Amino acid sequence: MSAGLSEMIQSAGPRYRTATEYVEATLREAILSGAIAPGTPLRQEELAASFKVSRMPIREALRQLEAQALVDFEPHRGAVVVQITLLDAMDNYAIRAALEPQALRLSIPNLTDEDFEIAEDLLAEIDQEQDPGRMGELNRRFHMTLYAQAGLPRLIALTEQHLATADRYLRFHLAAVGDMGQDEHRAILAASRVRDEASAIEALAHHHNRASEAMKAYFATRSAAVP
Ligand code: NI
Repeated sequence: MSAGLSEMIQSAGPRYRTATEYVEATLREAILSGAIAPGTPLRQEELAASFKVSRMPIREALRQLEAQALVDFEPHRGAVVVQITLLDAMDNYAIRAALEPQALRLSIPNLTDEDFEIAEDLLAEIDQEQDPGRMGELNRRFHMTLYAQAGLPRLIALTEQHLATADRYLRFHLAAVGDMGQDEHRAILAASRVRDEASAIEALAHHHNRASEAMKAYFATRSAAVP
């Protein structure tokens, strides 16, 4: 077990309601921060001993991390921390750039004052947040608040799934872009409020493009597979 993970386990404990939540959030943070390297096997027995919990919450947490594309289950090896590559990141941006404008366009006419308030509050929270894992979650909630009224459940579910997958690049995103794109978030929200669909979609496209270009430049200065 890496020294980084042991430290994170010790400091993370009391913040969580359930053992699964505790294990999932701590492992997620450890993977996203690089404290556990890509390709590292995550052995359930070892994790149960480190976290001082039974194997059930470990298994459940690993399933949740698999759903977030942070962990793969490989035959004979079990759960393994995924490799993060530029190709993966670009694939994810391409999917998001296809889905999110659709969801936003369909959602805008149905958004309520309450939705706008929630979105506004989430932006204020992002401004105050230091923790990258938590920033990713708030970013996802902000975007999904604006897409949620699209009225097409499968489009919404697919959009949310790929937005969640984007969290695995967050560490690189923050290193590459330097911020969460709060100016762009505010532009998307302002245009949505006045039901200006075209401007909202343009601001969203700018948000995606700036991030993917910065990420490309960032990966170009490193090897193709990021440690
Ligand atoms: Ni965003």
